[in-house]
Amino acid sequence: MLSYLELFFGKSFTGKTARMLHEVRAVPRLLIVDPKCAQLATLKGYAHLWPQYSAKPRGWTDGAIVGYLRKVRDAQRFRAVIHVRDNFKEQLELLCILVRAVGNLTLCVDELGLFIPSVGPSLPPAITSAMISGRHEGLAFAGTAQRPALVHVTARANAERIRWYRVTERNDLDAARGYMPLALADSLPTLPNYVCIETSDAGAAFRDESMVGKINVLGAPPAVRGPRKRAS
Ligand SMILES: Nc1ncnc2c1ncn2[C@@H]1O[C@H](COP(=O)(O)OP(=O)(O)O)[C@@H](O)[C@H]1O
Ligand SMILES: [Mg+2]
Repeated sequence: MLSYLELFFGKSFTGKTARMLHEVRAVPRLLIVDPKCAQLATLKGYAHLWPQYSAKPRGWTDGAIVGYLRKVRDAQRFRAVIHVRDNFKEQLELLCILVRAVGNLTLCVDELGLFIPSVGPSLPPAITSAMISGRHEGLAFAGTAQRPALVHVTARANAERIRWYRVTERNDLDAARGYMPLALADSLPTLPNYVCIETSDAGAAFRDESMVGKINVLGAPPAVRGPRKRAS
Protein backbone atom coordinates (compact mmCIF):
# COMPACT_ATOMS: atom_id res chain seq x y z
CA MET A 1 0.00 0.00 0.00
CA LEU A 2 1.13 3.47 -0.82
CA SER A 3 2.34 5.66 2.01
CA TYR A 4 0.96 9.13 2.27
CA LEU A 5 3.70 10.68 0.14
CA GLU A 6 6.02 8.62 -2.06
CA LEU A 7 8.55 9.75 -4.61
CA PHE A 8 10.40 8.00 -7.44
CA PHE A 9 13.63 9.62 -8.60
CA GLY A 10 15.92 8.71 -11.47
CA LYS A 11 16.98 9.28 -15.02
CA SER A 12 14.75 8.83 -17.99
CA PHE A 13 13.77 5.24 -18.80
CA THR A 14 14.93 3.78 -15.49
CA GLY A 15 11.38 2.61 -14.75
CA LYS A 16 9.99 5.26 -12.39
CA THR A 17 6.61 5.81 -14.00
CA ALA A 18 5.99 2.12 -14.49
CA ARG A 19 6.85 1.45 -10.85
CA MET A 20 4.61 4.24 -9.63
CA LEU A 21 1.70 2.84 -11.62
CA HIS A 22 2.51 -0.62 -10.27
CA GLU A 23 2.45 0.64 -6.68
CA VAL A 24 -1.01 2.20 -7.09
CA ARG A 25 -2.50 -0.67 -9.07
CA ALA A 26 -4.95 -1.55 -6.28
CA VAL A 27 -5.85 2.01 -5.31
CA PRO A 28 -9.60 2.44 -5.77
CA ARG A 29 -9.77 6.19 -6.37
CA LEU A 30 -6.90 7.40 -8.50
CA LEU A 31 -5.90 10.47 -10.48
CA ILE A 32 -2.70 10.67 -12.49
CA VAL A 33 -1.36 13.98 -13.72
CA ASP A 34 0.59 13.70 -16.96
CA PRO A 35 2.64 16.62 -18.26
CA LYS A 36 4.34 14.69 -21.04
CA CYS A 37 1.19 13.68 -22.91
CA ALA A 38 2.98 10.77 -24.54
CA GLN A 39 3.13 7.25 -23.07
CA LEU A 40 0.30 7.90 -20.57
CA ALA A 41 -2.07 9.24 -23.25
CA THR A 42 -3.03 5.73 -24.23
CA LEU A 43 -3.04 4.05 -20.83
CA LYS A 44 -5.85 1.51 -20.81
CA GLY A 45 -8.51 1.32 -18.12
CA TYR A 46 -8.40 5.04 -17.34
CA ALA A 47 -10.58 7.99 -18.28
CA HIS A 48 -8.48 10.55 -20.15
CA LEU A 49 -9.08 14.22 -19.44
CA TRP A 50 -7.59 17.05 -21.51
CA PRO A 51 -8.47 20.28 -19.67
CA GLN A 52 -8.03 23.61 -21.46
CA TYR A 53 -6.22 26.23 -19.44
CA SER A 54 -6.13 29.96 -20.04
CA ALA A 55 -3.31 32.03 -18.55
CA LYS A 56 -5.29 35.26 -18.81
CA PRO A 57 -7.78 35.30 -17.20
CA ARG A 58 -6.35 32.41 -15.25
CA GLY A 59 -8.24 29.16 -15.02
CA TRP A 60 -9.68 26.22 -16.87
CA THR A 61 -11.91 27.31 -19.70
CA ASP A 62 -13.80 24.04 -19.90
CA GLY A 63 -15.48 21.78 -17.40
CA ALA A 64 -13.38 18.67 -17.99
CA ILE A 65 -11.93 18.36 -14.49
CA VAL A 66 -14.73 19.82 -12.43
CA GLY A 67 -17.34 17.80 -14.34
CA TYR A 68 -15.41 14.57 -13.94
CA LEU A 69 -14.75 15.04 -10.22
CA ARG A 70 -18.38 15.93 -9.60
CA LYS A 71 -19.41 12.74 -11.36
CA VAL A 72 -17.03 10.42 -9.50
CA ARG A 73 -17.01 12.19 -6.16
CA ASP A 74 -18.99 9.47 -4.36
CA ALA A 75 -17.88 6.57 -6.54
CA GLN A 76 -16.05 3.69 -4.88
CA ARG A 77 -13.73 3.37 -7.79
CA PHE A 78 -12.46 5.69 -10.47
CA ARG A 79 -9.23 6.24 -12.33
CA ALA A 80 -8.32 9.01 -14.69
CA VAL A 81 -5.27 10.53 -16.33
CA ILE A 82 -5.27 14.30 -16.52
CA HIS A 83 -3.10 15.49 -19.38
CA VAL A 84 -1.69 18.97 -18.94
CA ARG A 85 0.41 20.74 -21.51
CA ASP A 86 1.36 24.07 -19.92
CA ASN A 87 1.00 26.22 -16.80
CA PHE A 88 1.91 23.16 -14.76
CA LYS A 89 2.12 24.71 -11.32
CA GLU A 90 -1.10 26.66 -11.76
CA GLN A 91 -3.02 23.63 -12.93
CA LEU A 92 -1.70 21.45 -10.11
CA GLU A 93 -2.69 24.13 -7.62
CA LEU A 94 -6.25 24.20 -9.00
CA LEU A 95 -6.36 20.43 -8.89
CA CYS A 96 -5.16 20.34 -5.28
CA ILE A 97 -7.96 22.69 -4.25
CA LEU A 98 -10.47 20.34 -5.86
CA VAL A 99 -9.03 17.05 -4.62
CA ARG A 100 -8.98 18.30 -1.07
CA ALA A 101 -12.71 18.94 -1.40
CA VAL A 102 -13.33 15.52 -2.95
CA GLY A 103 -11.15 13.66 -0.45
CA ASN A 104 -10.08 10.02 -0.22
CA LEU A 105 -8.07 9.64 -3.34
CA THR A 106 -4.55 9.11 -4.54
CA LEU A 107 -2.92 11.71 -6.75
CA CYS A 108 0.08 10.65 -8.83
CA VAL A 109 2.07 13.35 -10.54
CA ASP A 110 4.45 12.27 -13.27
CA GLU A 111 7.52 14.51 -13.68
CA LEU A 112 6.80 16.41 -10.48
CA GLY A 113 9.79 18.69 -11.02
CA LEU A 114 7.90 20.41 -13.83
CA PHE A 115 5.16 21.36 -11.38
CA ILE A 116 7.10 22.25 -8.27
CA PRO A 117 10.69 23.10 -9.15
CA SER A 118 13.17 23.63 -6.37
CA VAL A 119 14.02 27.11 -7.59
CA GLY A 120 11.66 30.04 -7.76
CA PRO A 121 8.86 31.23 -5.53
CA SER A 122 7.51 29.19 -2.67
CA LEU A 123 4.94 26.50 -3.26
CA PRO A 124 1.33 27.60 -3.85
CA PRO A 125 -0.87 27.14 -0.77
CA ALA A 126 -3.14 24.29 -1.86
CA ILE A 127 -0.23 22.17 -3.11
CA THR A 128 1.62 22.82 0.13
CA SER A 129 -1.23 21.96 2.44
CA ALA A 130 -2.24 18.93 0.39
CA MET A 131 1.34 17.70 0.71
CA ILE A 132 1.87 18.39 4.35
CA SER A 133 -1.59 17.81 5.80
CA GLY A 134 -3.62 16.12 3.04
CA ARG A 135 -3.49 12.88 5.00
CA HIS A 136 -6.40 14.19 7.07
CA GLU A 137 -8.53 14.39 3.95
CA GLY A 138 -7.59 10.87 2.97
CA LEU A 139 -5.22 12.04 0.27
CA ALA A 140 -2.15 10.15 -0.77
CA PHE A 141 0.48 11.47 -3.16
CA ALA A 142 3.05 9.96 -5.43
CA GLY A 143 5.41 11.65 -7.84
CA THR A 144 8.26 10.90 -10.19
CA ALA A 145 11.17 13.15 -11.10
CA GLN A 146 14.35 12.79 -13.08
CA ARG A 147 16.33 15.17 -10.90
CA PRO A 148 15.79 14.92 -7.14
CA ALA A 149 17.77 18.13 -6.67
CA LEU A 150 15.20 19.96 -8.80
CA VAL A 151 12.11 18.95 -6.85
CA HIS A 152 10.89 21.33 -4.21
CA VAL A 153 12.33 20.48 -0.81
CA THR A 154 8.88 20.48 0.82
CA ALA A 155 7.98 17.44 -1.24
CA ARG A 156 11.24 15.67 -0.49
CA ALA A 157 11.15 16.47 3.19
CA ASN A 158 7.64 15.10 3.62
CA ALA A 159 8.10 11.93 1.61
CA GLU A 160 7.69 8.78 3.66
CA ARG A 161 9.28 6.63 1.03
CA ILE A 162 11.60 7.43 -1.85
CA ARG A 163 12.74 5.00 -4.53
CA TRP A 164 16.01 6.16 -6.02
CA TYR A 165 16.73 4.89 -9.51
CA ARG A 166 19.93 5.72 -11.39
CA VAL A 167 21.10 9.30 -11.04
CA THR A 168 24.48 10.65 -12.08
CA GLU A 169 24.47 14.40 -11.53
CA ARG A 170 26.49 15.66 -8.64
CA ASN A 171 23.64 17.67 -7.08
CA ASP A 172 21.36 14.66 -7.22
CA LEU A 173 23.96 12.43 -5.57
CA ASP A 174 24.50 15.05 -2.90
CA ALA A 175 20.74 15.07 -2.24
CA ALA A 176 20.71 11.28 -2.01
CA ARG A 177 23.50 11.11 0.57
CA GLY A 178 21.23 12.57 3.21
CA TYR A 179 18.90 9.60 2.87
CA MET A 180 21.08 6.51 2.68
CA PRO A 181 24.44 5.06 3.71
CA LEU A 182 27.38 6.15 1.61
CA ALA A 183 27.89 2.79 -0.06
CA LEU A 184 24.34 2.81 -1.41
CA ALA A 185 24.59 6.42 -2.52
CA ASP A 186 27.81 5.58 -4.35
CA SER A 187 25.99 2.82 -6.22
CA LEU A 188 23.37 5.17 -7.67
CA PRO A 189 25.25 6.20 -10.84
CA THR A 190 25.64 2.59 -11.95
CA LEU A 191 22.27 1.13 -10.99
CA PRO A 192 20.82 -0.92 -13.86
CA ASN A 193 17.39 0.04 -15.18
CA TYR A 194 14.46 -0.96 -12.94
CA VAL A 195 16.68 -1.39 -9.89
CA CYS A 196 16.33 1.16 -7.11
CA ILE A 197 17.47 2.00 -3.62
CA GLU A 198 14.46 2.32 -1.38
CA THR A 199 14.62 4.70 1.56
CA SER A 200 11.76 5.16 4.00
CA ASP A 201 10.76 6.22 7.45
CA ALA A 202 9.86 2.61 8.15
CA GLY A 203 13.28 1.01 8.01
CA ALA A 204 16.80 0.85 6.69
CA ALA A 205 17.62 1.69 3.08
CA PHE A 206 17.98 -1.27 0.74
CA ARG A 207 18.60 -2.17 -2.87
CA ASP A 208 15.46 -3.45 -4.59
CA GLU A 209 15.89 -5.60 -7.68
CA SER A 210 12.64 -7.44 -7.21
CA MET A 211 10.74 -5.77 -10.03
CA VAL A 212 13.22 -6.23 -12.86
CA GLY A 213 11.34 -7.70 -15.82
CA LYS A 214 8.13 -7.87 -13.83
CA ILE A 215 6.40 -4.63 -14.76
CA ASN A 216 4.86 -4.21 -18.12
CA VAL A 217 2.23 -1.50 -17.64
CA LEU A 218 3.73 0.83 -20.22
CA GLY A 219 4.64 -1.83 -22.73
CA ALA A 220 8.10 -3.16 -23.30
CA PRO A 221 10.65 -0.73 -24.69
CA PRO A 222 11.67 -1.47 -28.29
CA ALA A 223 15.02 -3.00 -27.32
CA VAL A 224 13.46 -5.87 -25.38
CA ARG A 225 10.33 -6.33 -27.42
CA GLY A 226 11.48 -9.73 -28.63
CA PRO A 227 13.82 -11.04 -31.27
CA ARG A 228 14.42 -8.53 -34.05
CA LYS A 229 14.23 -9.63 -37.61
CA ARG A 230 17.73 -9.59 -39.08
CA ALA A 231 18.28 -7.49 -42.10
CA SER A 232 19.50 -9.94 -44.65
N1 LIG B 1 10.48 -3.41 -13.86
C1 LIG B 1 10.47 -3.36 -15.19
N2 LIG B 1 10.74 -4.47 -15.92
C2 LIG B 1 10.74 -4.41 -17.27
N3 LIG B 1 10.44 -3.33 -18.01
C3 LIG B 1 10.16 -2.20 -17.33
C4 LIG B 1 10.16 -2.16 -15.91
N4 LIG B 1 9.86 -0.91 -15.53
C5 LIG B 1 9.69 -0.20 -16.65
N5 LIG B 1 9.87 -0.97 -17.73
C6 LIG B 1 9.79 -0.51 -19.13
O1 LIG B 1 10.84 0.42 -19.37
C7 LIG B 1 10.39 1.54 -20.10
C8 LIG B 1 10.68 2.81 -19.32
O2 LIG B 1 9.92 2.80 -18.13
P1 LIG B 1 9.34 4.13 -17.52
O3 LIG B 1 8.61 3.74 -16.31
O4 LIG B 1 8.59 4.89 -18.55
O5 LIG B 1 10.67 4.92 -17.17
P2 LIG B 1 10.83 6.38 -16.57
O6 LIG B 1 9.51 6.82 -16.05
O7 LIG B 1 11.88 6.24 -15.51
O8 LIG B 1 11.31 7.22 -17.72
C9 LIG B 1 8.90 1.30 -20.35
O9 LIG B 1 8.74 0.82 -21.66
C10 LIG B 1 8.51 0.27 -19.33
O10 LIG B 1 7.48 -0.56 -19.77
MG1 LIG C 1 8.43 8.47 -16.58
